[in-house]
Amino acid sequence: MEKYIIANWKMNPDDLVKAKSLLASVEIGLTDNDKKVVICPPVIFLRDLRQIVNKCQLGAQNAYFEKQGAFTGEISVGMLKDAGCDYVILGHSERRQYFGEADGAVNKKVLAVLASGMRPVVCLGEQERQAENIGEILKKQLTTILSGVAKQKLKEVVLVYEPIWAISTTPNSQPCLPDDALTVYLFLRKMLIQTYGQGAADKISILYGGSVGAKNAADYIQISQFNGFLVGSASLKSEEFIKIVKI
Ligand code: 13P
Repeated sequence: MEKYIIANWKMNPDDLVKAKSLLASVEIGLTDNDKKVVICPPVIFLRDLRQIVNKCQLGAQNAYFEKQGAFTGEISVGMLKDAGCDYVILGHSERRQYFGEADGAVNKKVLAVLASGMRPVVCLGEQERQAENIGEILKKQLTTILSGVAKQKLKEVVLVYEPIWAISTTPNSQPCLPDDALTVYLFLRKMLIQTYGQGAADKISILYGGSVGAKNAADYIQISQFNGFLVGSASLKSEEFIKIVKI
């Protein structure tokens, strides 16, 4: 499987000048070997950033599954591709919490993104720390969001485990212990193997997200075995983000 560091800028920074400057300062710290660094800015900045991006790839933070039509405020997968996207984050917990997205809609988006040739970066994770039924929650999410994905397409899916209670902007957030994250990593891998078989399941990248910074990135890679990160707040600080990439 491939290794990724994906920056989710969320609704930041607040203007294009700052967005260009942030991208430029990230790229200064990268080498040509840092290939799978994906920057997901607010969609309005995509076309301008495409003009200056050099070492990173670009992604969006959401997409709609219909091709075009009367869907006010939405942006289709084809439009994102046209704007220079290679990746689309789907099912982020903030989309679920603030915009009512459910697993069924996320699944339709996953299928639409795969059909377009871009890669979906699909998030799942439980709401509360030490939820008793975490296995059931994750199994249900995983089964629904990947429903209908053909075995040979699986390698194009990037899966992200983001426990919501560990996201830095969640009130009273707490970091997920690397050993606990390892348990979830192994659980997700096992479920993928059971569903798709070892060969196909081994090709899917599983990333971790939730308060990842330069201080804890090595633990999540070495102890928890994840294949990279989806980084929120720390991706807005170029020096720290570069350190995470190097780790
Ligand atoms: P933080 O890295 O700020 O915890 O955000 C995680 C996240 O939501 C990335 O999508």
